[in-house]
Amino acid sequence: MKNDTKELESLVEIKNSSLRTKDKKDAGTIHEVKTHLPLGQLGSSHALKKLAQTADSQDQNDRIVQEVKKAIERIGQRTFQIGVIGLGYVGLPLAIAFARKDFRVKGFDIDAEKIELLNQGKSYIRQIKEEIIQELKVKQFTCTSDFNQLCDMDAILICVPTPLTEAREPDLSFVIESTKQISKQLRKNQIIILESTTYPTTTRSVLLPILEASGLEVGKDFFLAFSPEREDPGNPTHSVVHIPKVVGGIDELSGDLAEAIYRSIVPAVVRVSSTEVAEATKILENTYRAINIALVNEMKLLYDRMGIDIWEVIEAAKTKPFGFQAFYPGPGLGGHCIPLDPFYLSWVAKKYGMNTRFIELAGEINTAMPAFVIQKLGDALNDRALPIRGAKITILGMAYKKDVDDPRESPGFELLDRLLQKGAIVSYNDPHIPVLPKMRHYPHHQPMKSQELTPEFLQSQDAFLLTTDHSAYDWEYILRYAKLIIDTRNATKNRQVSRGQVVAA
Ligand SMILES: NC(=O)c1ccc[n+]([C@@H]2O[C@H](COP(=O)([O-])OP(=O)(O)OC[C@H]3O[C@@H](n4cnc5c(N)ncnc54)[C@H](O)[C@@H]3O)[C@@H](O)[C@H]2O)c1
Repeated sequence: MKNDTKELESLVEIKNSSLRTKDKKDAGTIHEVKTHLPLGQLGSSHALKKLAQTADSQDQNDRIVQEVKKAIERIGQRTFQIGVIGLGYVGLPLAIAFARKDFRVKGFDIDAEKIELLNQGKSYIRQIKEEIIQELKVKQFTCTSDFNQLCDMDAILICVPTPLTEAREPDLSFVIESTKQISKQLRKNQIIILESTTYPTTTRSVLLPILEASGLEVGKDFFLAFSPEREDPGNPTHSVVHIPKVVGGIDELSGDLAEAIYRSIVPAVVRVSSTEVAEATKILENTYRAINIALVNEMKLLYDRMGIDIWEVIEAAKTKPFGFQAFYPGPGLGGHCIPLDPFYLSWVAKKYGMNTRFIELAGEINTAMPAFVIQKLGDALNDRALPIRGAKITILGMAYKKDVDDPRESPGFELLDRLLQKGAIVSYNDPHIPVLPKMRHYPHHQPMKSQELTPEFLQSQDAFLLTTDHSAYDWEYILRYAKLIIDTRNATKNRQVSRGQVVAA
């Protein structure tokens, strides 16, 4: 028996030294991923944890299980308080989803303007109607920038940005900052769930050491899980409450509690064995998209040379009832996820001595698309004996995708930049973006306002670059007056056009 305990202690020691960051002072810096463990080993660490727990006093284990049971009961009774950190495109719909299921929800954000707007019952996201915020405000949903109130929450969901640095490496500074705020307020029996997209191992290697620096211990005093957001902005059929949620806990009880929380707002929870599997699932989904978009973009370049219409090809291919999923070409990748997330994976892959060649190649192809579009525009103007320099060109749609007001990473900015560099006189129109925000990769751009598409204006332009096919556009009206449209979205398909008026790009 004595020997068993000794063996157990040494196993637990191995687990602690492998899985936990030793130097808590530096905890949370992304340069310090110390958990270079194959997943098999991580799995066995769960087994070790279980073994360790049996050696703990039975009373303590019972107490923890009882606390989780009580928490699950309180979820059912809706006396369980949900806190959401980061009220952007992901956090705000999520907070609303919980509030609509009768939870009391508190939103936290460092952006004082957003907090003020929400507290006035106003929305800053096009898809979220003000009536919903007004209906939930006061009773179910309140917002604040006062992070001291985090200690009143039973669950804290982190939905802050995970961009790339200038060197195209993961920038976890927002996640780290939020986790530090939580750590200051952390109290017994709280559960922290990371929703932001990130590379596998982040929850364990970055969040856990910061949270345990509070003196509390995971699985005993508090709980920790990862559940990726799968929001598809602008998609009317797939909103947060219709999409199954993948959930992975840092231990069994964390997973159980997180699962119970999400079960109350979504139709299905897909429980996975660890936070690493949940993190890896999200990155796989986004990388799959990025690579397939690169594939159709490359096909577009080839078929364009061969005089074959890629759009017609995709329509035909997608009639196959198995083995093919349609992806569509475009002027380049946009949004906060698809262009960035695969680089989180390739960054961590390098730590494991691997180059993710597929991801790099897809990135290369996708980032080359704006150059192709400009080439097509230049050729079309050339056919009209016009140089790009001095030509009046208007970009239609600056949002990164149809029917959203989100301009992040939109290829429209790269196209705008290239045209300005070539000396074009550039305007833009986007029914959902009245003024162009300052973009961090294009600090030199002057402020611009969306140009109204009057018949006079449409006639005055040498060309329109159709980058985003918002439903609000009346293509027949635009085609009545526009001399030339470079169509990157096949939006003018089946419309009456005059010869040479539309060029596919
Ligand atoms: N937008 C999407 O379609 C989408 C889809 C799936 C996953 N994601 C992921 O979800 C995460 C959030 O994305 P988003 O689109 O909602 O970003 P966002 O920029 O719209 O919102 C993030 C919010 O977090 C706030 N914030 C930043 N630092 C903070 C801090 N320390 N404390 C409190 N608030 C802070 C910002 O002010 C902002 O309001 C990212 O990891 C993203 O990759 C986004």
